[in-house]
Amino acid sequence: MSNTIEVLNNAGQQELAARLESLSGDARKALERDILSQDWEELKALYAEKSSASLEDNVSADLKPMPFKIAVDDLRYDFWKETGEILLGKGQVAAFLVAGGQGSRLGFDGPKGMFDIGLPSHKSLFQLQAERLQNLATQVGNPIPWCIMTSPLNHEATVNFFTEHNFFGYARENIRFFEQGTICALSPEGKAIVDNDRLALVPDGNGGCFRALAQSGTLAWLIEKGVRYVFLYSVDNALCRICDPAFIGALASEGRSMSASKVVHKAGPNEKVGIFALQNGKPGVVEYSDLPENYRDMTNADGSLTFDGGNIAIHLFKIEGLRKLQTSKLPWHTARKTVCGIEKCWKFEQFLFDAFPQLGTMMPFGVIREEEFSPVKNADGNDSPKTARTMIGKLHREWLRKAHVKFDESKLYEISPTISYAGEGLKQSLFDRELGRNILAFDEE
Ligand code: UD1
Repeated sequence: MSNTIEVLNNAGQQELAARLESLSGDARKALERDILSQDWEELKALYAEKSSASLEDNVSADLKPMPFKIAVDDLRYDFWKETGEILLGKGQVAAFLVAGGQGSRLGFDGPKGMFDIGLPSHKSLFQLQAERLQNLATQVGNPIPWCIMTSPLNHEATVNFFTEHNFFGYARENIRFFEQGTICALSPEGKAIVDNDRLALVPDGNGGCFRALAQSGTLAWLIEKGVRYVFLYSVDNALCRICDPAFIGALASEGRSMSASKVVHKAGPNEKVGIFALQNGKPGVVEYSDLPENYRDMTNADGSLTFDGGNIAIHLFKIEGLRKLQTSKLPWHTARKTVCGIEKCWKFEQFLFDAFPQLGTMMPFGVIREEEFSPVKNADGNDSPKTARTMIGKLHREWLRKAHVKFDESKLYEISPTISYAGEGLKQSLFDRELGRNILAFDEE
């Protein structure tokens, strides 16, 4: 105990040390466990560094846009797709969902993947993902291992939800849930926040995924299974083409890069997406919250945005890359948030895309927003359940049109991922049979 007190005192956390000493029994043990889970020297250094930094400090002076091409326009697209399907069929690809975030902007009290975006089927985001993955696995003839990262704040609720729904038909042995790490939030003055005699611990950002993947034994599990490519994605993109074969095939064919990322043209300067850029010649992402306005608003001679490559949080890693990242240190970012009723507290987090500069070259893979990106971030307005419903409805209607199916043009359609992964296999007889079952019509709002 005296050692713990000394560590806290050296880190400028005398109040916390005093609080610990005032407790006894189980309460004392619980708080001490929280304290021992943290690196107090690192927290002290982080506060000192961040409380004296400005926004521009996060971004290098040498920032250049990263060029990208829309993949589907490339003559090699079909070849990439076939290559990816072969790799999936050999069991060399896994899906990795990072779902440890708190989803505070949406105002939904629970893991975001449990959220029902209001489609006619009322399927949750988790269910849509599970069904899409299973359809793909059936097509390629091999199960796809699915890793799901939670945080201590939502782990139990997530696992319970899957259990209650019988894992949406996914074979239990092919799913692994594991928790990411946490970091203590600090008051505006840099003091540890204590709530009900426990430390205010918050998830350490999605950049904690590399550490957590390894420490939980999941990386070893994947290696054991012979997985060579890991498709990493965020929980809230209702259009995510999970384990997209073309994306996998493109990285496998390119050969040089350890990772690849999907990129869209930004909707406008104020869209809250990170941008792909070269910093000091190295590829990476600058988060929207870190991007100074002059870069955000910069335009080319034709009026288009200079930093136009939007991050849709879909990445692909070679397993060697993930091995390398398990021990590498990523930078910390800060957000000033209200924690336990205290305003402007310091929350520290790591971003997974900060791993890219450490992996050398990275392959950008341009995709069409209407086909692959509809994030559910806000309760209303843009990036909301309503925009996601509309985008799904229009995309699926487009799939029917391309399949020359006759349908009611005044309606939108929801096609279950159990019958089509990305528009394939649709025909009139299937439509007639499935309308009202796995194909549901709805009205545009
Ligand atoms: C994220 C991207 C942003 C991108 C946008 C696209 C990061 C850091 N930012 O922003 O560049 O343009 O998506 O929609 O990736 N998560 C964890 N643990 C955490 C925090 C988050 O697992 O501690 C997960 C979330 O559950 C989510 C994903 O990471 O699945 C993205 O996190 P979120 O906070 O939603 O990031 P955005 O601000 O939307």
